[in-house]
Amino acid sequence: MKTYLVTGAAGFIGFHVAQALLERGERVVGFDEMNEYYDLKLKKDRVARLFTRDNFTFYEEDLADAEAVEGVFADHKIDIIANLAAQAGVRYSLIDPHAYVRSNLKGFMNLLEAARRHPVENFVYASSSSVYGKTSRSPFKESQRVDAPVSLYAATKRAGELMAHSYHHIFKIPLTGLRLFTVYGPWGRPDMALFIFTKAIMEGSPIKVFNHGKMRRDFTYIDDIVAGILASLANPFEYEIFNLGNSTTVPLMDFIATLEEYLGVDAEKEFLPLQPGDVVETAADITKAREMLGFDPKIDIKEGIKRFVEWYREYYGV
Ligand SMILES: NC(=O)c1ccc[n+]([C@@H]2O[C@H](COP(=O)([O-])OP(=O)(O)OC[C@H]3O[C@@H](n4cnc5c(N)ncnc54)[C@H](O)[C@@H]3O)[C@@H](O)[C@H]2O)c1
Repeated sequence: MKTYLVTGAAGFIGFHVAQALLERGERVVGFDEMNEYYDLKLKKDRVARLFTRDNFTFYEEDLADAEAVEGVFADHKIDIIANLAAQAGVRYSLIDPHAYVRSNLKGFMNLLEAARRHPVENFVYASSSSVYGKTSRSPFKESQRVDAPVSLYAATKRAGELMAHSYHHIFKIPLTGLRLFTVYGPWGRPDMALFIFTKAIMEGSPIKVFNHGKMRRDFTYIDDIVAGILASLANPFEYEIFNLGNSTTVPLMDFIATLEEYLGVDAEKEFLPLQPGDVVETAADITKAREMLGFDPKIDIKEGIKRFVEWYREYYGV
């Protein structure tokens, strides 16, 4: 049994990763500040579920607080780090940019420093497909240039990858960054399209369709992402970056049509221009993750949306 530090354990992906590790019989130290970026009840309910299992401990602390981070390493011998805490979301980085600097830069820095003082077997952190920004050509490959981010969120994610490189180079910390592509599924994030659309359609409100629907996304189902993260946690590399996406790009209007089908309702659509910071298309080339991690996404968008809608109906009793 190993001890994993999972930051962002109250968040969408951190919760699922912590749950999968606990199911496997590992020890998990969860860490999350429980901020109110979105509905706190969802975060509390996720943590409550983790507490129903053995070998789970939880710190409600801020990663940007160096003493709090150090305290975890003083209390536990951490074998492996999964850093899934962050200020996420492209659009909110126009509203509260400092939240991104605090969590994604200062918070990540504190974890790197802790790993420098307390050697770990592996350190995996979430990056994002958003780093591909303006210069990259779809499908995105890890070897492409990523020096023209179009949002501060993306800039902090790319900065994290570069900070990780320097800590790998100087202190020989094994560091793997995972560029995740639009993750969705049960217990998902209320600020993301699938959640927003489902809620609006069920309430009979119009949905906002940006760039007049001319967007394409590589949607990745949560179970596939968890499998990729677990594979990465089990395979320490000196320094690597992997795309974790589905590798099928779905037009936004098809995505909405599938959702309408499962909800049995036609959505009222408000067509709007592209939002600042948004990218028109994301598509992952996952050849590297397939070869080096055995990553093999299995759930297509129809099955994934179906499972999300089932969870949503049950959780909200609608
Ligand atoms: N969901 C996606 O589609 C997606 C896509 C690309 C990358 N990512 C990345 O994956 C990771 C997990 O994302 P998610 O979708 O689970 O987001 P989430 O917002 O659901 O979870 C992040 C959690 O981190 C916590 N947190 C934020 N700042 C903190 C701090 N300073 N100290 C302690 N806890 C803090 C939040 O309270 C939250 O519970 C993030 O790094 C995100 O940028 C997600």
